[in-house]
Amino acid sequence: QPAPVPTYQPVDLSEGRMVALFDHVRNMLEMGIEATFPGKGFANAMLVGSNVSYKSAAALTLLKRIDGLGFPYKTAHDIASAIHKNLPKSTLLESSHFEVDERGFITVVVPAKLLATILTNIVVHGVLPPKQEKKKRVIIDFSSPNIAKEMHVGHLRSTIIGESLCRLLEYRGFEVLRVNHVGDWGTQFGMLIAHLKDEFPNFRNESPPIGDLQAFYKASKKRFDADEEFKKRAYTEVVKLQAGTDADVRHAWKLICDESRREFELIYKRLHVTIKEKGESFYQPMMPSVVADLEKRGFVQVEDGRKIMFVPDQAVPLTVEKSDGGYTYDTSDLAAIKYRIEEEHADWIIYVVDVGQSLHLETVFSAAKHVGWLDPAKVRVDHVAFGLVLGEDGKKFKTRSGDTVRLVDLLDEAVERAKVVLDSKRGGDLQPEEYAAALDAVSYGAVKYADLSTSRTSDYTFSFDRMLKLVGNTAPYLLYAYTRMSSIARNAGIDVSKEIAKHPCEFTEGPELALARALIRFPEILNRITDDLMPHTLGSFLYEICQLYSTFYEKLRIIEHDVDKATGTKTIKSIHYPRLALCEAASLVLKQGLSILGMDVVGKM
Ligand code: ARG
Repeated sequence: QPAPVPTYQPVDLSEGRMVALFDHVRNMLEMGIEATFPGKGFANAMLVGSNVSYKSAAALTLLKRIDGLGFPYKTAHDIASAIHKNLPKSTLLESSHFEVDERGFITVVVPAKLLATILTNIVVHGVLPPKQEKKKRVIIDFSSPNIAKEMHVGHLRSTIIGESLCRLLEYRGFEVLRVNHVGDWGTQFGMLIAHLKDEFPNFRNESPPIGDLQAFYKASKKRFDADEEFKKRAYTEVVKLQAGTDADVRHAWKLICDESRREFELIYKRLHVTIKEKGESFYQPMMPSVVADLEKRGFVQVEDGRKIMFVPDQAVPLTVEKSDGGYTYDTSDLAAIKYRIEEEHADWIIYVVDVGQSLHLETVFSAAKHVGWLDPAKVRVDHVAFGLVLGEDGKKFKTRSGDTVRLVDLLDEAVERAKVVLDSKRGGDLQPEEYAAALDAVSYGAVKYADLSTSRTSDYTFSFDRMLKLVGNTAPYLLYAYTRMSSIARNAGIDVSKEIAKHPCEFTEGPELALARALIRFPEILNRITDDLMPHTLGSFLYEICQLYSTFYEKLRIIEHDVDKATGTKTIKSIHYPRLALCEAASLVLKQGLSILGMDVVGKM
């Protein structure tokens, strides 16, 4: 006989904390399982369609395996029914709100009254994140371009995805440290410094007008490849830089870094990205002791003069010190992970880096575990990998002349193209500052959304035509939908959050219920992307909201007007307040969702 089920404590659905409902359902299901199969309390709640479901079918196969012989349930449906029978008592939901289907899915159909309460709270209080008991600290390593090599589209992906994850976790109440792990210490500095000394001999006293850094990089690379003498000099410059004893070399290095930094900053500013630089060189002072410590503890061996470290289960060893005594990308990542855990006390570290570096990062993580810096039970570490950016020809994204695409040019083109889109609608009757805001929202929004709305693990094809389409899962579509949702109350001069308290809120029509049910899934979507760090799920969700909204708007009247035949002036005849509240809630959810994707909304476009 199953143990009697305790009554589940009611949750506080006040304010806009809709996550409470989702957690409530999950807890109820977990307790149902606990009562049915004591000691087997694992649950995997999810929302299916407009309802909350419990994926009992999958859980049950597992249970069957655990219990082996004598398991009294034959089908997934049997098991789901048993869980259903044992649901705890709740003040919010009754057993009749849960349905069990043949596949063993338990679905809860949220009653209309509860929907109305939740949506009213959203309108009155805004869309609030769940409360966190303990503020956890997460370090997000993203963007991370290399100094003097122009930031390219791969770094753009990292910047866009990273910014979005920062916003997600900030919204959820984490303390987020945004770290730009710039490549400012590689061997490329040898040739850059040597070239700088030749081109601007007066660099010590006068800031050199390097100007185009990419051209500067190319020119020094050309010399490096063609001229043995220059190559040798480049080499001695790196050694001096890494030894840290030559003030001139250090100064030249700093000049080059500063120039790069100015360029990166322009991009971050345009994209509304905030990030703090802590590049490879930051960890430089720690590297000797990191290597010494690893050596002392017997983790290091010497091969061809290099110091290397084999890591269990990893094919390729890490190089912790080169034969000339210099350190590597591996060393800086080892020092960085140690610092992040031991000095910065991270509870979670996220690396937003292209999939090409999976092996490298995996090896670094394994090494950190192996030597005891990283305890996976205490610190979560993720590599958020992403695929390549392809051109419309399906090949690596390049300019027509075959060069790497510069981000500034790309963003400039986005703005030009967005102008055409805006002007094709009604851009003309906007005030100049409204037009500027709309242009910003559409152009950068389109670039960001095109990236974030596709699964990050696949390669993605960069296409202005596609990302700027007015229909479909695109930024312009979502942004226009937002202006429609938010303008209804504004145009009618109604403060919905005040009015809604005076009018009973109830939903009865299909399109109202469908939209309301979808809106309350927002917290579940956020839970999900916090787990799997796949923001495209949020994009699909917001797109679905906009589509449901458009059906709702077509089918049902929100505000009715009387029109004076003679003058053409409109006066409000009647207002359907619950529907107006639904519009308002939809616009709030959409705005919050888009903001997590790094996008700004505008009231008019
Ligand atoms: N600078 C590197 C690159 O452009 C990315 C650095 C990523 N972060 C890290 N901790 N390894 O490829």
